[in-house]
Amino acid sequence: MSGKYLVTGGAGYVGSVVAQHLIEAGHEVVVLDNLTTGFREGVPEGASFIEGDIRDAATWLDSSFDGVLHFAAFSQVGESVAKPEKYWDNNVGGTMALLGAMREAGVRRLVFSSTAATYGEPRQVPIPESAPTSPTSPYGASKLAVDHMITGEATAHGLGAVSLRYFNVAGAYGRYGERHDPESHLIPLVLQVAQGRREAISVYGDDYPTPDGTCVRDYIHVADLAEAHLLALEAAAPGEHLICNLGNGNGFSVREVVETVRRVTGHPVPEVVAPRREGDPAVLVASADAAREKLGWSPSRADLAGIVADAWQFTQQRAN
Ligand SMILES: NC(=O)c1ccc[n+]([C@@H]2O[C@H](COP(=O)([O-])OP(=O)(O)OC[C@H]3O[C@@H](n4cnc5c(N)ncnc54)[C@H](O)[C@@H]3O)[C@@H](O)[C@H]2O)c1
Repeated sequence: MSGKYLVTGGAGYVGSVVAQHLIEAGHEVVVLDNLTTGFREGVPEGASFIEGDIRDAATWLDSSFDGVLHFAAFSQVGESVAKPEKYWDNNVGGTMALLGAMREAGVRRLVFSSTAATYGEPRQVPIPESAPTSPTSPYGASKLAVDHMITGEATAHGLGAVSLRYFNVAGAYGRYGERHDPESHLIPLVLQVAQGRREAISVYGDDYPTPDGTCVRDYIHVADLAEAHLLALEAAAPGEHLICNLGNGNGFSVREVVETVRRVTGHPVPEVVAPRREGDPAVLVASADAAREKLGWSPSRADLAGIVADAWQFTQQRAN
C-alpha cells in the first residue's frame, strides 16, 4: 500500500537512494535536509523538498505522514573524536526533537540509520546484533544513544521502529552516489586515484592477522540497503524496536578492493603502505541473519566488482 513518508537527510548519499526507491515503489516522499553535507540535486525528482533542520521537524510533520526514514546525521568518525559536542548536538539532540515531533503529530513508524560503529572492537565475527556494544568513537556512541532512545519511545509511547546497522555502504544507484567531503570511505577514495585526482591510495597497515595482512570490511550495495528500508517500513510494529545489521556477510580486504578497482577501471592505482590507524579492527563483517529472517531481506548485488563498477560509473558521470 502506498504511503507518505518524511525522509530526513534525503539530499545525502544513502537518503537520496532510499528516497528514489520509495518513489519508484509508488510512495509520496518529502525530503527534509539542511544541506550541511547533502546536495540539492541529490533530492530525487518527484520528491518534495524542505530545506530545514530536523530540530524543527515539528513545523512540517503532521498526521498525514505514515512514517519517517531518518538518515540526517553527522557521520565522520575522526571529526567526532575532535568535536564530540557536534555529534551529540546533531545526532542525539536532533533525533530527540524529531521523536518529539513524531509523538506530537501521531506519526508512529520509524526506520533509523544506525551503524556497525555501535559495536566497536568486535569479540566475534561475523557480528550478530546480540554482540556487546562498546563504540570507540563519539559518532558510534551518538548512534547507540539514539538506538536506546528509540527503544524507550517504542516501549513507552508505542512507536514502531527498525534500526538498521549498516556496515560499509558502497556503490551507486543511477545518478545517486557517494560524495562526502572530506571523503573517508575506501571505494570512492580508490576511485579518486583512478580518476587522477589523488596520486596513490594509502593502505593503513598490512600486518593484520588477515589473509593478505590488510583490514577486511563488509561492503553492501546501496541499492540492496535501500530495499531493506522498504521492507523495514512494513516490518515496523507498534511498541516494538527491531535492530538489524545490514551487510553482505562477506568480507573483502583493502587489497582486494584496490585490485578490483584496477580491474574495473584499467588504472594501475599505486598504493602506499602507511602505519595502522588507531581503533581500526582487523575484520568487521556482519551477521545479517536477523535482516534475512525478520525483514525477509537478501542482498542481490553482493559482488564486489559490480559494486565498484556502479560507483565508477557514478564518479565518471559527475566528472563529465
Ligand atoms: N555511508 C555509510 O557507509 C554509512 C554507514 C553506517 C551508517 N551510516 C548512516 O547513514 C546515514 C546517511 O549517511 P550518508 O553516508 O548518506 O551521509 P550524508 O552526509 O551523505 O547524508 C546525511 C544528510 O543529512 C543531512 N543532515 C545532517 N544533519 C541534518 C539536520 N540536523 N537536519 C537536516 N538535515 C541534516 C545532510 O545535509 C546530508 O544530506 C547517516 O545517519 C550515517 O550515520 C552511513
